[in-house]
Parts: sequence; structure tokens; C-alpha cells
Amino acid sequence: MDHFHLEKGELCCEGVPLRAIAERVGTPCYVYSDATLRRHYEVFEEGLARLPHLICYSVKANTSRAILSTLARLGAGADVVSGGELWRALEAGIPPERIVFSGIGKRGEEIRRALAAGILMLNVESEAELGRIAEEARALKVRAPISLRVNPDVDPETHPYIATGLRDNKFGIAMEKARSVYAAAVALPELEVKGIDCHIGSQLTKVAPFVDSVRRIVHLAQEVRATTGAAIRYIDIGGGLGIRYSEETPPTPEDYGRAVSEVVAQLGTLDMTLVTEPGRVIVGNAGVLLTRVLYLKSNGQKRFVIVDAAMNDLIRPTLYGSFHQIRKVVPGPAGTPRATVDVVGPICESGDFLARDRELEEVAQGDLLAVLSAGAYGYAMSSNYNSRPRAAEVMVRGSELAIVREREAVEDLTRGERLPPWLAASR
Ligand code: LLP
Repeated sequence: MDHFHLEKGELCCEGVPLRAIAERVGTPCYVYSDATLRRHYEVFEEGLARLPHLICYSVKANTSRAILSTLARLGAGADVVSGGELWRALEAGIPPERIVFSGIGKRGEEIRRALAAGILMLNVESEAELGRIAEEARALKVRAPISLRVNPDVDPETHPYIATGLRDNKFGIAMEKARSVYAAAVALPELEVKGIDCHIGSQLTKVAPFVDSVRRIVHLAQEVRATTGAAIRYIDIGGGLGIRYSEETPPTPEDYGRAVSEVVAQLGTLDMTLVTEPGRVIVGNAGVLLTRVLYLKSNGQKRFVIVDAAMNDLIRPTLYGSFHQIRKVVPGPAGTPRATVDVVGPICESGDFLARDRELEEVAQGDLLAVLSAGAYGYAMSSNYNSRPRAAEVMVRGSELAIVREREAVEDLTRGERLPPWLAASR
């Protein structure tokens, strides 16, 4: 459920018409609904209520300070994958003891920052990284809290770019190998082994792969506890719960929570805290990308709607062939004709599209369109390609609107650039 709905014939975010936002802030622009964000967090939280748990929002999905601060106030923790995300999470007021640090290529400086901040645990993805963390901890004279990210070899049945828990993916430590890596970790006094972790992929639309992977890692955790005495108290099952973009019917957070809690309870590990790292399911449907139609054109059989948002603003359709629903902000009266069009941006690549062969109500130059379900991996993956300043971000609460990130100016594009001396001199 979200709070983007038609009211008096136009699409609104909570109590604010999207048309009014476009007039005030311009387009392209991301619009987030505070009520939707909160609701999604709360529903997810309720889904896990049966077990001791910790929700570590996966910061990569949407790093906006406004989003992070909202979630921090709801009690969320954070799953971070870089020093930058760690900094953002702490800055938003997320307590370090609710932060986990994932990722296969943590640099020394990032490890030191995480240790100095006192985060809950670093999810370790290789033996080499384990050694590096031990070294950094020794130098800082602290014990590094760690968990091993194991690769449970489960097929998440999702897009290959976002499947992560298969043996051939670069993530995690193979199950067979994990036993010896745990033994090595337990033997290192600089390390405090606290957990076990996995993340099998993103945009999963079934519970079975989650249940399978939980079963596998819990068995492994029990075995490792028995053989090495490692005090595994956290089972981190990653993120990945899908959302509805089109016809998908992903499990609800309640179904997901029930299935996962049941398997954890059956396995007799109620003394452990379940950690989850949801991203998309929390923010995906809490945001839309608002864009205006610049021109209409046809080439042969094809009809194009050229809008002012492009693949630099939302790369998901180009990169993964993802479907995002597109709605007219002010729909025409019933019976308005429809047409099959490509909705494309101004970028000089044929891959620059937001939708292909999409049946839409007839649009005219100047119309506003909302690209739905753009709250996750939208702004966060945006770029300045074609020297396009990044879009503005707005958050709405009831009838209030706040610009939570200004639109970039062209001057921002060259910030940090320097001319080499031989060119500077001749100016
Ligand atoms: N934990 C780890 C270790 C992850 O790698 C990810 C996502 C998550 C949690 C959060 O997954 P979520 O709940 O959002 O599915 N850019 C792609 C998605 C990439 C996901 C990367 N890892 C997209 O736009 O679909």
C-alpha cells in the first residue's frame, strides 16, 4: 500500500498534488511519501515481531538523509557497504550497535572507521579479508566483531545481475569452506565471532529461497557453535524481499516474516537475534520520479514520448530491463484514447528509455508523468552522464512538502575538477 493516489482528478502524494510539486521544484524530481515509508517499515517490523530481531535498512537502496533520519527515528539499524554509507548512517543518528558492514572489498580505512565507531559486526566475505580485519583490530587494540557471510548456493530466481547467493557469484564464503574459516576466526584473539550472514539476491518474489537459505545457514551456525565454541548470536539473512512493479505477487512482509520466523523457531535457535537487511521493500514504493513531456515524435511505426528524465536519473529500465509503471499526473476523462509508445529521455543512447512499447493514455507536450516505484535504486544509482545535473528530491508529509535535496546546478558539474598547469597557464 502506498500514499500516491488520485484526488480531485489528479495524482497526489499524500495531501500534495504532484502538479504543485513540479511547479514549485521543477522536473525531473524524486518525490517520497513519509507515510508510505513509515508504513512499510512498520509492517516489516510487525512481520518479524515473533522473534528477537534487528532491522538493518540497506542504505544503498536510498541514501537520502531525510529517509535515513526518518528510519533512524523509527528505531532502524543500517546495513552499509562503504565508508560513505557508514558515515551517512551515523550522521543520521543510527546507533553504531545497530550497524552491520557488508561487501567484498572493504578497504583498511573503512575497516578502521567501522571499528572505531563500534558497529555491531563486519560481515566478512573471504579469508583474506578476515586477516586484514584482524590486523586492523590489533593495531587499534580492539576486538573486531565479525560474522561470516556464507554463500548458501540457493537460486533466488531473479535477474542475474542481482542474484548473489549462487556458488558462481562473487559473494560470500562457500558453505564447505566456512567451517574452517570459522575455526580460524575463533583462534584469532583480535576477533569476536558474533554471527553468520547471507544475502541471496534482490527482488525475490517467493519465500522458498529465503527459507532454504535460512535453514542452511542455521544448520551451519549450530554445527560451528558445537565444534568451535564460536558464540554465534546473530543470524543475518540479508535483504531481498521483492515489491510489486507490475504483475509480480511477492510475499507480503507478513508472509515473509512468518516463514522466516517459523524456520528459525523450528531449528531451535530462539536464543539468536535475527538480523535482516531490507532495502527495496522499505523505500521502493515510497517514491516516484516526476517528469515532464518535452516533445512527441514518430519514426516510422514507432511513437516516442520524449521526457525530461533519463537513464542518468533512473537507470533500472536500461540496466535490468526493469518495468516501472508510468501514470499521467492529470489523467484525461474516461475514454481518452491510448497509444503504444516508448518513453525516452534526452540522453544520446538508444538505451536511454524509461519504458518500451508501453500502452499509455495519449499524452501531450507539457504533460506530467509519474514513474512509479522509483524510491529504491533510483536516485541512489543516478549519475551526471551527458552532464545532466542530478534531480531534486522532495519529501511529503500530509500537506507539507520539503525539498530534501536541491537540484544540482550546472556549476556543480565541474566541482573538484582542475586544469593541468600547462592549460591553466594559457588561460
Ligand atoms: N544486503 C546486501 C548484502 C545487499 O547486497 C543488498 C542489495 C541488500 C541487503 C538489500 O537488498 P534489497 O532488500 O533492496 O533487495 N540495483 C538493483 C538492486 C541491487 C541490490 C544489491 N544488493 C536494482 O535496482 O534492482
